[in-house]
Amino acid sequence: MLKKVLVLSFLFIGLAGCAIFKSNSNESPNKVSLSYAQHIKPIMEAKCSPCHFPTSGKVEMLDSYEAVRKHFTDIIFRVKLNPEHKKYMPFKQKKPGLTPAEIAKFQMWRAEGFAE
Ligand code: HEC
Repeated sequence: MLKKVLVLSFLFIGLAGCAIFKSNSNESPNKVSLSYAQHIKPIMEAKCSPCHFPTSGKVEMLDSYEAVRKHFTDIIFRVKLNPEHKKYMPFKQKKPGLTPAEIAKFQMWRAEGFAE
């Protein structure tokens, strides 16, 4: 059983590795691989709506490139907190938290210069 799990996880890591490799081979000329429109916005919509989007709109809007850039440090700080922490986002764990891969995308996006 354990062996099977191990084999499966290696297979998964292998596939994920291929996916990353593939997306890198489609690099745009300026070598930026992540952009707000393609990579960050979908995560924000999936994990931070409706609260931070106009549909609900009760708290700070995080529905645009400008807003996400302005609050970038706070966003990263909050999604990386222990889910029990009162500042953790998504608020009160009402939505699944960001996965390590999603957080890595945010950090990569910053490292590459916040492409729009
Ligand atoms: C269920 C509703 C809900 C969801 C989903 C949610 N938030 Fe929040 N968010 C709140 C509330 C309520 C506050 C105000 C309380 C506070 O600051 O902790 C807040 C505050 C914030 C703030 C501080 C904004 C300011 O006033 O400067 C940030 C940054 C933030 N959230 C980021 C996020 C991110 C990133 C996600 C998605 C991963 C997310 N939130 C998901 C409800 C939500």
